[in-house]
Amino acid sequence: MNDIFLKACRGEAVPYTPVWIMRQAGRYLEQYQAVRRKVDFLALCKTPELAAEVTIQPVDILGVDAAILFSDILIPVEAMGMELEFIDGRGPVLSPPVRDEDSLNRLSVADPGEKTGFVMQTIRILRKELEGRVPLIGFSGAPFTTATYMIEGGTSKNFLNTKKMIFRSPGLYAALMEKVTRTLTAYLKAQIEAGAQAVQLFDTWGGIFSPADFREYALPYVTGIIGELRDWLESRNSGHVPVIYYVGETGGLLEEIRSCGADVYGIDWRINLDDAVKRLGGDAVVQGNLDPAALFLPRHGIEERVKDILGRASSARGHIFNLGHGVLPETPPENVVALVETVHHLSGK
Ligand code: CP3
Repeated sequence: MNDIFLKACRGEAVPYTPVWIMRQAGRYLEQYQAVRRKVDFLALCKTPELAAEVTIQPVDILGVDAAILFSDILIPVEAMGMELEFIDGRGPVLSPPVRDEDSLNRLSVADPGEKTGFVMQTIRILRKELEGRVPLIGFSGAPFTTATYMIEGGTSKNFLNTKKMIFRSPGLYAALMEKVTRTLTAYLKAQIEAGAQAVQLFDTWGGIFSPADFREYALPYVTGIIGELRDWLESRNSGHVPVIYYVGETGGLLEEIRSCGADVYGIDWRINLDDAVKRLGGDAVVQGNLDPAALFLPRHGIEERVKDILGRASSARGHIFNLGHGVLPETPPENVVALVETVHHLSGK
């Protein structure tokens, strides 16, 4: 079994730097598009055999060191009772947006087995089909990023509805975050029970905050989930399951996030990795952090940047190579293959 990714998460010695790619299953792959021509995105997420198939595609095509469950961070939000649609060219739409007590009261803390059993079934299929080739990563949105979609009703540019709620109705915001956090905690536990070997929390929009507001309005909920997962794992004696915490635009928040208890910190490309390691306290395991657009460089350009990142990562306790955000839909797949080969080759394989 290739457990190099899990070893790196724990900060153990590894023969080469493991690599996986955020959004590694997706539209840049012809093989993914072929499946998507038959079903829409949500149906794909809810059909375990197909979701498992597209999860494994990048493992076969790219040779990455981990698989990530094919799903979406908005699946548990639909399970709480919101209506979810993905509209071409516009992205996700959630309705009605949560802006007052009434719309919040209509939502429940979702039971993961009852409402999202298809996710757990996908994980069980994947563990069988992967046969230990690479570990399987489960995931959810972090509470704050998840809540922005619920409050805005979809993607946003300035997150003004979210900040208005935080600043004008802090009690309502806290009640929403409590419901979201309870849902996501149960959802991640269920994924681990079904067979996820590591989990990543995506806080894509964490960087919209000042450090002080991040510390008050986003971080406690992340720390809460991670603490509860740890206690739960310990009580079941089920071994260590690494938690990766990814924050978009991490640079201004490193001194804040280092207390959350994650095993691994996902770093975007706007900061040098050695700098990030230093500001995380010097003893961190990091994941990242190539600019997704660098995959449009010619091969020697990609190689140079990989070399630079690997050099900077040498100060970390452990490093998992990844992009600083998801792979872009227009990316040439052969460049992603070249990236994975280059990381393996230059780091020792
Ligand atoms: O990484 C993987 O390969 C696993 C699958 C995965 C998806 N979404 C599939 C997806 C993961 C981990 C996510 C996380 C996710 N979803 C995030 C956090 C990470 C990030 O990229 O910031 C967010 C913010 C979402 C919400 C979301 N889902 C948006 C805003 C969109 C529309 C934008 C877009 O790229 O189309 C999605 C759709 C989505 N999620 C697609 C995929 C493959 C595209 C759907 C399609 O096939 O048309």
